[in-house]
Amino acid sequence: MNPTITPEWGKLQAHHDSIRGAHLRELFAADPDRGSMMTAEHDGLYLDYSKQRITTETLDLLVALASATRLGEGIEAMFTGERINTTEDRAVLHTALRRPHDAQLRVDGENVMPAVHSALDRMSVFAQRVRRGQWRGFTGRRLRTVVNIGIGGSDLGPAMACQALVDVADPNLEFRFVSNIDGNDLASALRVLDPQETLFIVSSKTFTTVETLTNAHTARRWLLDALGTTSAVRDHFVAVSTNTAAVEDFGIARDNMFEFWDWVGGRYSIWSAIGLSVMIAIGTDQFRGLLAGARSMDDHFRTAPLERNLPVLLGLLGIWNRNFLGSQTHAVLPYDQRLARFPAYLQQLEMESNGKSVDRQGNPMTVDTAPIVWGEPGTNGQHAFFQLLHQGTTPVPADFIGVLDPAHDLHTHHDLLIANLFAQTQALAFGKTSEEARSEGIASEQIPHRTFPGNRPSSTILADQLTPYSLGQLVALYEHKIFTQGWIWGIDSFDQWGVELGKVLATRILDQLQSTRSVGSELDSSTSALIGRYRQTIRE
Ligand code: F6P
Repeated sequence: MNPTITPEWGKLQAHHDSIRGAHLRELFAADPDRGSMMTAEHDGLYLDYSKQRITTETLDLLVALASATRLGEGIEAMFTGERINTTEDRAVLHTALRRPHDAQLRVDGENVMPAVHSALDRMSVFAQRVRRGQWRGFTGRRLRTVVNIGIGGSDLGPAMACQALVDVADPNLEFRFVSNIDGNDLASALRVLDPQETLFIVSSKTFTTVETLTNAHTARRWLLDALGTTSAVRDHFVAVSTNTAAVEDFGIARDNMFEFWDWVGGRYSIWSAIGLSVMIAIGTDQFRGLLAGARSMDDHFRTAPLERNLPVLLGLLGIWNRNFLGSQTHAVLPYDQRLARFPAYLQQLEMESNGKSVDRQGNPMTVDTAPIVWGEPGTNGQHAFFQLLHQGTTPVPADFIGVLDPAHDLHTHHDLLIANLFAQTQALAFGKTSEEARSEGIASEQIPHRTFPGNRPSSTILADQLTPYSLGQLVALYEHKIFTQGWIWGIDSFDQWGVELGKVLATRILDQLQSTRSVGSELDSSTSALIGRYRQTIRE
């Protein structure tokens, strides 16, 4: 359904016209309880959305829009395995990966839960053997480094989670993530690794991705050069994939493969065997904690009333900011260094899911879809791009993410960190008027430079601690936020056709780069000149 033809969309437009001049200063002044009322909480995760440019009426209208687009039916369709990824004719069931053993979930008539749990059990046995030093390298040495080779969803989730959960990770193991086709990525890892002590996990849903296969083949050659026999591959390479034939073609035996299924999207796959490196890092019980946290958010998303449903609220606020306030980008600002890769993880999750220009039926969208998602941890960002957030010409809605109880005892650092988080949301919302600047004794010629417009929307998300459980909640929160938005926009959030064209063209250009024939006349003049310049430099 095109959301713009609903009466609710029209009402939101009229409502926007009526409150567009309202400043957050006025909204807070008008309601002393706003800061405690415009909040929602689930299982220890707290959301303060009072600094969004909304009133209670805005929220009512947004919730009405969600109902009019039958969001509740969409949520059920996803959880029950309907083929809501219509362009690929697939179910979308990453939520099945965090369900308990005794749940029932049929895909094509078959209950998938036994397979989900037997895959988890196999991962668990393997992870324990590596952690206990029972799985050894070919020469009998204990494994010290685990290298995940994968890209996109087969890299960003495990890389983000291993960094986030470093406090509960095995300190005797080092984890590395190689993704880029740029040889610098793999070469810099191999330079410092000992082949006798290194385990490679080749992670690829399709096992056809050129970056991953190229890196995996080079890593395999490096290992064989050092250890002298293909028999070593068995002890140093495992694969995670849905494509058994391609894994076997590569030379990894079925026994060393951990499988998952086509109903798990790449960017939603951290819960599957793609999370193997995470499980090795933190152990089985903690990995189950990650799944349990996500399950808690699943249950909340499925059952909580829309107006108190955290992912729904985040999704609706995103629609308000994007479609009614006209925001083009969205900043994700974790005030926790361990979450440094979280913005990059969310970039794929949100932009690959909802960066679409046609609806599920192929009709051109009449409203904007996903914003550009970006961010860096605080307080680093404050000394880099926050200038633009406060005084630039483009308001940027932001999510500030904080963890109240740190995992260290540097309490002064933590107080400063959290003080900065709260202060930034305050400064963005309320700004500083010219009267206030003047009363501080600021010289009149400096007043325009030293006032802050304020009225810049943000949400604050707080977790008590950063644990596998709360990380699971946080990731599932954003997964479902993205689902909410995609459903309301009427797009397929689970395909990614937009990445295909570049792949095809790269193959053609590779032929031209490596050829000695003159550059093909069918190419555009820019690309042909660029190829010519490359060839000339490389051959000189
Ligand atoms: O870039 C497209 C994409 O298909 C992503 O959706 C996916 O996460 C990534 O490539 C890696 O794919 P694979 O796991 O099949 O190697």
